[in-house]
Amino acid sequence: MKPIPHSMITSEHNFRNRRHFIASGIAAAITLPLAGSLLASADASEPLKPTPLETINSYNNYYEFGFEKSDPSEAAKTLITSPWTVEITGAGADKKGAYDLADIYGEYAIESHVHRFRCVEAWSMVIPWNGIPLHKLITAAQPNSRAKYVRFITANDKTQMPNANWSGGPYTEGLTIEEAMNPLALLATGIYDKPLEQQTGAPIRLVLPWKYGFKSAKSIVRIELVEQMPKTTWWQQNPREYGFYANVNPDHDHPRWSQGSERVIGEYGRQRTQLYNGYANEVAHLYGALSDRRYFY
Ligand code: MTE
Repeated sequence: MKPIPHSMITSEHNFRNRRHFIASGIAAAITLPLAGSLLASADASEPLKPTPLETINSYNNYYEFGFEKSDPSEAAKTLITSPWTVEITGAGADKKGAYDLADIYGEYAIESHVHRFRCVEAWSMVIPWNGIPLHKLITAAQPNSRAKYVRFITANDKTQMPNANWSGGPYTEGLTIEEAMNPLALLATGIYDKPLEQQTGAPIRLVLPWKYGFKSAKSIVRIELVEQMPKTTWWQQNPREYGFYANVNPDHDHPRWSQGSERVIGEYGRQRTQLYNGYANEVAHLYGALSDRRYFY
């Protein structure tokens, strides 16, 4: 990870990209009033309506392939995703190793999980994922007492990714070991029973449905069990706006926009955002006070 002075916070291009989003967010807010009666309430117990595959595959954040939402899907398919090796290592792993993804597929059952997906930019989808629960791979690495956090490092190959040299690469994310062992944390390999596309993070990415989408690192090449809280990409890019935990909470606004509601991609209108994105029963016990901003940005 390139060290970035705090004064720089984010490159001009990234800044413009985030600005672009804010502008479209404001436009949406103007055309779609947020008055309570017009805001659909998303109930955690309601059946989920999955977003169409074409929508999931064409509205993406994957800066290694460009800054606009359409860039990743329109980019040439240059990332070689097979063969693919995932290394599991770090002082906290007694059983370190580099594993061919084909062997991982042979070892673990691929499960299906339909989850809400909430981006920090206040838009959302519902995605039918296929993948392997993260805790299974972590358990296989035989974590020891030094495994306090898990660090994820993703592909950053300038010959295969047109924008790999953006200031945040290699994209790095992290979880506490307790978060990583939660059954909701998934290493996704597919959507709608089809392999992930390059733009959605092929061949393997994180899915953490109770957290903002930037935590879900794409195209993972290394998983490290470590003692210290990892410095993650967006935290380093802009520590005032993006933290380590990034749990969804409608009552803790982003410094530049509300997190109280979300634009549902592919649908008309907005809906209320739910605490932990609707997964409070499964994850609230992992955290401290709801008033503690540290957990919610
Ligand atoms: N992973 C990498 N390697 N590079 C990225 O730019 N963007 C993150 C996350 N994972 C990103 C990434 C952000 S900001 C979001 S919201 C999600 O991927 C978007 O996932 P999606 O495009 O599948 O909706």
